[in-house]
Amino acid sequence: MALAQHQIDKPPFDVEAIRQDFPALSLTPYGKSLVYLDSAASAQKPEAVIEAEARCYREYYANVHRGVHYLSTKATVAYEDARRNVARFMGAGDPSEIVFVRGTTEAINLVAATYGREHVGEGDEVLITTMEHHSNIVPWQMLCEEKGAKLVVAPIDDRGDIILEELEKIMSERTKLLATVHVSNALGTINPVERIIEMAHERGIPVLLDGAQAAPHLPMNVAELDCEFYTFSGHKAFGPSGIGALYGKKELLDAMPPYQGGGEMIRSVTFEKTEYAPAPARFEAGTPNIAGAIALGATVDYLEAIGMGAIQAYEEELLAYGTSALESVSGLRLIGTAVHKASVLSFVMDGVHPHDIGTILDREGIAVRTGHHCAQPVMDRYGVAATARASLAFYNTKEEIDRLIAGLEKVREIFG
Ligand code: ALA
Repeated sequence: MALAQHQIDKPPFDVEAIRQDFPALSLTPYGKSLVYLDSAASAQKPEAVIEAEARCYREYYANVHRGVHYLSTKATVAYEDARRNVARFMGAGDPSEIVFVRGTTEAINLVAATYGREHVGEGDEVLITTMEHHSNIVPWQMLCEEKGAKLVVAPIDDRGDIILEELEKIMSERTKLLATVHVSNALGTINPVERIIEMAHERGIPVLLDGAQAAPHLPMNVAELDCEFYTFSGHKAFGPSGIGALYGKKELLDAMPPYQGGGEMIRSVTFEKTEYAPAPARFEAGTPNIAGAIALGATVDYLEAIGMGAIQAYEEELLAYGTSALESVSGLRLIGTAVHKASVLSFVMDGVHPHDIGTILDREGIAVRTGHHCAQPVMDRYGVAATARASLAFYNTKEEIDRLIAGLEKVREIFG
């Protein structure tokens, strides 16, 4: 993917300088220096983001789009500037294509409840893949139940790659939407989304991409991808929790019915009839997460200053190092070995429950996630109930991976 101007000509990537930006990275749980390998669940925040949110509350907080007074005007300008920043980060042509939502989960529910309800009927199909997070399964299941439609699931192979020939076979004129993850949270697979979109568009099928695990790791350009919808969550991309973005092509958003009713999403209201505001206001009923959206704008500024291309290159090296280090641990099996991967090292160890792995590592100051990662069908596909998952971000180092390996050797000693 071509890099935007803001992604080139960056200073050299300096992980030690970057780590200084994240106050949480100097915490010392149990007296040990923190090794934070749970960024796929939620990432740590740089000072610039913490400060942007605090500054809004301290210096110019008021409700947005509702006041003629000084503070409201200032907050509104900052809120809409943040929308512009997010549009630029996502590669959207027009800020009105960006809807602020609580996160990826709400974005997918919004599309299912509006676009989905209008376009999916009895006998129709919604196509997803085996590697979806529950947030890209359950909303479609609910829609299909309501409409008498069918949820169709594309298979993956043993490495964790979508089987494109199978995906192609199950696309049909009944398929009204294809919804797929860009990067899998449980396996780390980077899906060939360009090819998937091309295949879907050849058959007139619109595509929604769940970018929750892609936005923190890869350059993104929705206009180049030409997807109909794309969504990511602030909290996984080093921004605040409770805020995220949904991109939708303008003509689709403009034609979609509202999601929730309430203040700010209307043009006029009488007891007889309500006229709705145009997108994106139509989808932002009620007082939004004002400071969160402003801090999300600061988050993408921060990421762009480092450069998503530089982040991706650094993480590729870290992932390769982590993969071969984990392969050297006896009795350890990686779950998810796709050719193109980002950030995620999911694994099981013979004779050890993943929760025990997590607990022993925790005492060493190492945070990993254990469980089904809100992707139970992925666990079923590999015949495991749970995995331990180390997930990387651009603030992690090879030394931290060495600490993980030392922790796993301790697990081995305890469990034999
Ligand atoms: N979806 C988040 C994860 O992968 C919570 O951990």
